[in-house]
Amino acid sequence: MPAEIDLSVPHICEVQMTTTVNISPTSPLSSADHTLFVCKTCASVWQDGKRLGESGGQKLLHQLQQLAQDWDLRDEFPIQEVECMSACNRSCVVAFAAKGKLTYLFGDLAVDGSASAVLECASQYYVKADGLLPWSERPETLKKGILAKIPPLSQ
Ligand code: FES
Repeated sequence: MPAEIDLSVPHICEVQMTTTVNISPTSPLSSADHTLFVCKTCASVWQDGKRLGESGGQKLLHQLQQLAQDWDLRDEFPIQEVECMSACNRSCVVAFAAKGKLTYLFGDLAVDGSASAVLECASQYYVKADGLLPWSERPETLKKGILAKIPPLSQ
């Protein structure tokens, strides 16, 4: 049984706090709320349990990293490589995720020629408060191959 609290005595929660914490919209706490996940294992060629050469996912990842050097959202929307997103038969696979937004998983991306469309779509995702990416507004390359649209966690 919990101990009773004497309400006649001031408690810590009643002490006036004089310290203020400023969290501006541009603070580092909020600057990297978005992540572009890229599967680096997609489109691998395996022989005797070993991958031969560079996978398609690694090639797409490198193209994205290269293009992102000139992307205005490169600091706000970091690219994170992942081993697998369990959509292996729909390679290449990327995902957009952010706090308070829908999470999208896209597959069937060509190794070559998809990177600029992925960053364009990521930019669209970034400016939407809920992350919604209507079919008609997505780049042609990402109109097909959508594998998941997952609701945000409730806040
Ligand atoms: S290998 Fe890319 S999703 Fe599994």
